[in-house]
Amino acid sequence: MDAPYNFLMESLTITQPDDWHLHLRDGEALKAVLPHTARQFARAIAMPNLQPPVRNVADAAAYRDRILDALPKGITFEPLMTLYLTDNTGPKDIIAAKESGFVKAVKYYHAGATTNSDSGVTDIRKCDSVFEAMESVDLPLLLHGEVTDRRVDIFDREKVFIERYLVNLRSRFPQLRIVMEHATTSDTIEFVLSADNTAATITPQHLLLNRTSIFQGGLHPHLYCLPILKRETHREALLEAATSGNPKFFLGTDSAPHARNRKESFCGCAGCYSALHAIELYAEAFESVNALDKLEAFASFYGADFYQLPRNTDTITLTKQPWIIPKELPFPDSPLVPLRAGEELDWKVTEARA
Ligand code: DOR
Ligand code: ZN
Repeated sequence: MDAPYNFLMESLTITQPDDWHLHLRDGEALKAVLPHTARQFARAIAMPNLQPPVRNVADAAAYRDRILDALPKGITFEPLMTLYLTDNTGPKDIIAAKESGFVKAVKYYHAGATTNSDSGVTDIRKCDSVFEAMESVDLPLLLHGEVTDRRVDIFDREKVFIERYLVNLRSRFPQLRIVMEHATTSDTIEFVLSADNTAATITPQHLLLNRTSIFQGGLHPHLYCLPILKRETHREALLEAATSGNPKFFLGTDSAPHARNRKESFCGCAGCYSALHAIELYAEAFESVNALDKLEAFASFYGADFYQLPRNTDTITLTKQPWIIPKELPFPDSPLVPLRAGEELDWKVTEARA
């Protein structure tokens, strides 16, 4: 049994983490959020759901340049690019992506599943030639694993995606490396544990909050993300998986900035913003089950290993130093409200690369 040595731990130095699922947006929004991620993380998988989406290597190269241009001077950060799978993606796009060296994965959304997913795939059965190509060049498939069928209850959409599509996909392309992004249910944890070449990212909000949090004392639009928060038993299963030391589970924040006026509106957007304080949120979750000793591998090793990239060599230090999460942050047009705005966090990054 691990010793509870973190019981009185006041500071924690870990290898620089990476974020294996991140929305960086574009233009002025990109400039507003990128410094937060680059302060904590060495690399991040940049999601391709821009408008229009990142569909091919040329789009990915241009987006990568815009990200690098938006970095504050003197900060090094490596964006890892992804392509957005559409009905028109072909094997040639996959081969070019692999050859580029900087495209690390392909993202799958069912059309209409979430923010900017209108160009997503309308019928997964039409993607066979693309999956074959991905399997043969060994380019990972990142799944937004939710069905969009309106008859399926929103809380069941991940589970039904596994039953309807993933089981079949997994068995037909056994060598394809698959990541179930932002796992939210015990069903996904069980599936990932049972399947080879399959991993999952887990967000801070799904480790710390449950669906009741959305409605606690009133409606909290800043806790609305997709897949939506689930019931407490699922949160517990996610926390157990994240802190288990199993390399199939690693950090992916799904930090997804939306301006306050787009969240607090007649029809609010999905997404929680956590890039500002991501590693501190994870530290709180891990500490809650006395598993701070498992944080480094989850945040800094297992994702790099899955993507077959070297582990980072720099470090960051977190200190037990309570601070209040800002109520809002600068963002174009309307401010950005971070996850758990105005609340206290125990851990603070006190030494990072910049
Ligand atoms: O809550 C979410 N927000 N889930 C997603 O899948 C997309 C993301 C976004 O881009 O805002
Ligand atoms: Zn996402």
